[in-house]
Amino acid sequence: MIPQTEATTEEREPTDAESLLAVENLSKSFGTQLLWRNVSFTLNEGESLSICGASGSGKSTLLLAIGGLEMVQSGTVIFNGRPVVGGRQAFIEGIGYVFQHYHLIEELTVRENLLLPFSIRFGGRQMPDILDEVLDLLGLKELLDRLPTTLSGGEQQRAALARAVLAKPKLLLADEPTGSLDEATGTRVMELLLRVCQRFCMSLILVTHSAMFAAQTDRRMLLKDGFLREQTA
Ligand SMILES: Nc1ncnc2c1ncn2[C@@H]1O[C@H](COP(=O)(O)OP(=O)(O)OP(=O)(O)O)[C@@H](O)[C@H]1O
Ligand SMILES: [Mg+2]
Repeated sequence: MIPQTEATTEEREPTDAESLLAVENLSKSFGTQLLWRNVSFTLNEGESLSICGASGSGKSTLLLAIGGLEMVQSGTVIFNGRPVVGGRQAFIEGIGYVFQHYHLIEELTVRENLLLPFSIRFGGRQMPDILDEVLDLLGLKELLDRLPTTLSGGEQQRAALARAVLAKPKLLLADEPTGSLDEATGTRVMELLLRVCQRFCMSLILVTHSAMFAAQTDRRMLLKDGFLREQTA
């Protein structure tokens, strides 16, 4: 793979005083396949943004690149005034992730999975103050002692969402977080997601195939033919 674009960890002033995130001219290829080019946008604190696009258009790869988990050929991502250069640093500084394929840790129980990112971010034995509410809303209380491999796809997805939300990131990157859920559960989970983001002033980038869910975010973008464009209608 072509090496990641040059980036430094030195402190920088935010380019825009209000922007939590600034994505600047990001381009990505796999081999000779150009996936997207010159992707640029900013996101303010507490703002929600959805990204739609056909399967294979590069939405998941873009989300991974924003979170510092995927190398890019050129461009930078500035989060909280600093370049994002690696997944762990981005997580500690407040970027949370709901992966399309969950990525729960198989050896840990649901409870341990849920609490791990929170304890890494905040340390000690402290419990997240929204634990009970999130467990109730996502229907996870009965599943806490189970291992992820014994859960259905939808149950794993709800656990992955709870895990990300409980760590109270400043920016949540959610890749089709309701993709494995039935319509009613998906709607409830989306309501919860938007409510939690609002309550804790989390910014959200939501990748979704659902026009209905996209309509609930503050801004909408479409990834098509290698370009990311804001939808004004
Ligand atoms: N590591 C990789 N190596 C080579 N090609 C890859 C790699 N990861 C993704 N791709 C390709 O890049 C393209 C975009 O993949 P990506 O997963 O970002 O699409 P997507 O928009 O999230 O699709 P979906 O809606 O199906 O989840 C696809 O053609 C995929 O095959
Ligand atoms: Mg995807």
